[in-house]
Amino acid sequence: MEYANLLVESRGNVGIVTINRPKALNALNPDTIAELEHAFAAMGADNALKVLVLTGAGEKAFVAGADIAAMKDLDPLAARAFAYKGQKVFTAIENMPKAVIAAIGGFALGGGCELAMACDIRIASENAKFGQPEVNLGVLPGFAGTQRLPRLVGKGIAKELIYTGDIIDAARAHAIGLVNKVVETGKHLESALEMAQKIAGKGPLAVRFSKEAINNGLEMDMDRACAYEAELFGLAFATYDRAEGMAAFLEKRKPVFENR
Ligand code: CAA
Repeated sequence: MEYANLLVESRGNVGIVTINRPKALNALNPDTIAELEHAFAAMGADNALKVLVLTGAGEKAFVAGADIAAMKDLDPLAARAFAYKGQKVFTAIENMPKAVIAAIGGFALGGGCELAMACDIRIASENAKFGQPEVNLGVLPGFAGTQRLPRLVGKGIAKELIYTGDIIDAARAHAIGLVNKVVETGKHLESALEMAQKIAGKGPLAVRFSKEAINNGLEMDMDRACAYEAELFGLAFATYDRAEGMAAFLEKRKPVFENR
């Protein structure tokens, strides 16, 4: 499919999605959200791609939020539908059967911060800025920011950021656990691709089951979550890659994983 607002490419077994509306700081209008849904569904189903990287075009922004111009005339029902749609697409990204890394340069605000939080891992340039400034517009985060931010950084810090609308720099985002790693400005994509390559060299089903155990297990009580982990651990023993990984270790060679 041709995308008007995205660039989609693959480098080896890593897929890269770039949100490409730099003049609007990559703000998420309904078309861009629909394109993200389509692109991630296609890349999620593509077995040649082991890891996905999401970034924004231009130097100024990852994504500066939901598109305010596109939202300004929404009636309450349309606004609710917009929130549900964004949440659905972000949840689909969160549940991709492979790792998704956000490479963030510049602003990741509102829906942009929420989108980054739907990814598994966030790598930011030193110039990155994060925040949920929706209160400045008289609204609240609508793409699950009130839920993913406290799960990531804790309730107290999440409330501070959401109530004040403060924009924080990459160093503070790192200190509170909102980003995994901060790199020199402009090196965020390179660094994300490096990590993507590393993950792509591991057993893809092992990464996928780990992701399922973490994402689903954290929403369960501890006993159920541990039982779920044990089930997935057992399931891993049904895979070719598990037999290959263990045989390769014992034979002192590198494993050749086949994603089966
Ligand atoms: N929606 C639509 N357009 C946006 C935008 C957004 N979220 N953010 C920036 N833009 C546009 C600007 O309107 C401007 O367009 P024009 O050149 O046509 O005027 C262009 O991008 C460049 O932006 P600025 O001139 O404002 O750039 P700046 O460097 O002076 O400021 C900024 C940068 C601080 C990020 C500022 O653009 C800003 O505050 N943006 C809005 C951030 C925001 O409030 N995000 C939350 C949106 S609500 C939301 O996301 C709800 C939700 O959870 C679902």
